[in-house]
Amino acid sequence: MKKIIIAIDGVAASGKSTTAKHVARKLKYTYIDTGAMYRALTLKVLRLGLMDMVFSDTAALQKLLAETKFVLEGDAVWIDGENVSGHIRTTEIAAYVSKISSLKPVREKLAVLQKEMGQHKGVVMDGRDIGTTIFPNAELKIFMTANARERALRRYAELKEKSSGDPELSLDELEADILRRDAEDARRPLSPLRQPDDAIVLDTSSLSIEKQVEFIYTAAVKVIGE
Ligand code: CDP
Repeated sequence: MKKIIIAIDGVAASGKSTTAKHVARKLKYTYIDTGAMYRALTLKVLRLGLMDMVFSDTAALQKLLAETKFVLEGDAVWIDGENVSGHIRTTEIAAYVSKISSLKPVREKLAVLQKEMGQHKGVVMDGRDIGTTIFPNAELKIFMTANARERALRRYAELKEKSSGDPELSLDELEADILRRDAEDARRPLSPLRQPDDAIVLDTSSLSIEKQVEFIYTAAVKVIGE
């Protein structure tokens, strides 16, 4: 059976990861969460106390990147041999990840890895630049959006569940944070967040996860059968 690349891009907290994961499972495809790679790197930089250095010393950043090993395995992201999946969806990481992901050496390194991961097709890859930069020839491109309040509500519920208590940020703060990240991602010169011209736009403001999954799965089956 023909294998394709499904590129799912979109604004922050629009449900890309959850939807992409389910679509991949239904198609028996590999799910690749590129945001998790940027988040894992941000965690490493924060832990090492190198946040200032990476913006001022390109050679040192390049050395750091050369020494960094990324592995994606199912839903999990590993960096330098440690499964950091439980540590990357924090408000602190969210505050820095757009800045880290705007750096040229960072984008170059992760682009090489992501292209390798998709070289045999049969992947659902989610991010910001998959349909525009990483796989501009992807057979199916989806661009997910939703209104900011709805996205903040979803992220709030997600954080609440994870921390088994109230998140450190209020709903209003989360919404502001999401909008700030969208603006930063769209404004950067390298691989900005942009809707690919040939993408199907999916507004998930009033859609359930099941409906989103069904929509993309149906579109994929159609392309695969062509
Ligand atoms: O899940 P959420 O939409 O909050 O974000 P994510 O997909 O985990 O991505 C986190 C951040 O990584 C984004 O805000 C971007 O700054 C960056 N990113 C990127 O620059 N390019 C990608 N392909 C994926 C993520």
